[in-house]
Amino acid sequence: MKTTTSKYDSVSLSKTFHPYTLHLLLPIALLPIVLLCLYLYPLYLTKSQAKEHHYANVSPPPPSHSVNDIHKVDDPSCDYFNGKWIHDKTGPLYNGTTCVTIKESHNCITHGRPDSNYLYYRWKPTQCNLPRFEPNTFLQLSKNKHISFVGDSIARNQFDSLLCMLSSLSKPRPVHHKGSRWWHFESHNATLSVYWSPFLVQGNERSKLGSSLNTIHLDRVNGKWEKDMDGMDLILLSFGNWFNVPSVYYENGSVLGCLNCSGYGLNHTEVGFYVPLRKALRASLNRIIERRVGKKNEIGVIVRTFSPSHFDGDWDKAGTCSKKEPYENGEKEIGEMESEIRRIEIEEVENAKVKAKEFEGVRFEVLDVTELASLRPDGHPGAYMNPFPFENGVPERVQNDCVHWCLPGAIDTWNEILLEMMRKWDLEGQEWSEL
Ligand SMILES: *[C@@H]1O[C@H](CO)[C@@H](O)[C@H](O)[C@H]1NC(C)=O
Ligand SMILES: *[C@@H]1O[C@H](CO)[C@@H](O)[C@H](O)[C@H]1NC(C)=O
Ligand SMILES: *[C@@H]1O[C@H](CO)[C@@H](O)[C@H](O)[C@H]1NC(C)=O
Ligand SMILES: *[C@@H]1O[C@H](CO)[C@@H](O)[C@H](O)[C@H]1NC(C)=O
Ligand SMILES: *[C@@H]1O[C@H](CO)[C@@H](O)[C@H](O)[C@H]1NC(C)=O
Repeated sequence: MKTTTSKYDSVSLSKTFHPYTLHLLLPIALLPIVLLCLYLYPLYLTKSQAKEHHYANVSPPPPSHSVNDIHKVDDPSCDYFNGKWIHDKTGPLYNGTTCVTIKESHNCITHGRPDSNYLYYRWKPTQCNLPRFEPNTFLQLSKNKHISFVGDSIARNQFDSLLCMLSSLSKPRPVHHKGSRWWHFESHNATLSVYWSPFLVQGNERSKLGSSLNTIHLDRVNGKWEKDMDGMDLILLSFGNWFNVPSVYYENGSVLGCLNCSGYGLNHTEVGFYVPLRKALRASLNRIIERRVGKKNEIGVIVRTFSPSHFDGDWDKAGTCSKKEPYENGEKEIGEMESEIRRIEIEEVENAKVKAKEFEGVRFEVLDVTELASLRPDGHPGAYMNPFPFENGVPERVQNDCVHWCLPGAIDTWNEILLEMMRKWDLEGQEWSEL
């Protein structure tokens, strides 16, 4: 394990550290509340509305496999993460009209994003074809199961994409659950949930309580999702972006070190964020393994690798992430920070696989989106995080979101691959077997 601070820790902090500068435009004191509310409930959907709103009926497109064919995997050995984006005139399964649960700031179409080319691409793995998402197959494979997304706002982004694609077939019901969002598909007794836990482990985001530093306990898994873990059949861990922020790290209750904390009058050892990120992930995966002892149900754990942002030029200018088509392969290399985080995530999943060998019924996989996502600078809301940002001309400063993904959009692909992974597990009969 790498224990020294990489030079990239500081390089990436100064050069790539944009997502959070967005926040400078919001009153610092309001930010925590706004972020939390945005996370728990889309702006236009109050708690009571969420309970009773209706989904528009949309007939799904014909599935590419027949309904009885849920086990069919084109090529079980296919590497889904190596490929390219190609034009596809079919278009998305849903839009902001047919799916009412899209978070407002990701709903690019209704916010007036004028170009739609970004909706007409599909991911083509080099070795095989990635089938179009089939809500029916996903729900069948999720029958009597609880699938949980744990992590940051990009976990929520992917969750929302999945919810929209599934609700094009079957209408879920929101279930009240303290501290997380649950949706139940009565048709298949399937539950989907999303837990806000941007470090996976315990900690306070710096936006909370107006603090400027995260405090993170690297050895204590966040109890919010940890306490519900036994009831989950598939856990998708999705995190990373919140680590690149000034932080103080704790282990065994004492300070291990910090990230850029000297500016806050603290005299702790600078340890960068790669080592802490690795420790947090390892603690989480270890906890999942430990909790397997004596359990009967099988569980799948998927780690989604780092999702790159695309801030080109000044973060507050109109031209930031305004590209309208994907990069060609080779046109843009994955950044050093992105590669390093991805590498750590893959290594820790490999470590967990080895540790888990002596336990029955736990399986680890990587949803390696880093490369395919880095090729989609056109997929972010950019200025369209706000409605009609250029209605009155181009303002001097523009809020841009080049971190999250428009819905519908490129992130839908992540769930297409997720479905193929579930199909493969089912085929192999180790997990997801229909008893
Ligand atoms: C959304 O999809 C529905 C059904 O396919 C279609 O009738 C409608 O025009 C679409 N709305 C937008 C804004 O694209
Ligand atoms: C519904 O699914 C849950 C798991 O999410 C399971 O515990 C429960 O037994 C299922 N109910 C039925 C009737 O199968
Ligand atoms: C934390 O405590 C555990 C068990 O008590 C010990 O093995 C580990 O070395 C400690 N770590 C630190 C950094 O003190
Ligand atoms: C560290 O924090 C200080 C004070 O907030 C800030 O000026 C500086 O840019 C930060 N350095 C990096 C590398 O983020
Ligand atoms: C900071 O910590 C180091 C090592 O613990 C110590 O030698 C040094 O005196 C401290 N500096 C201040 C200003 O407290």
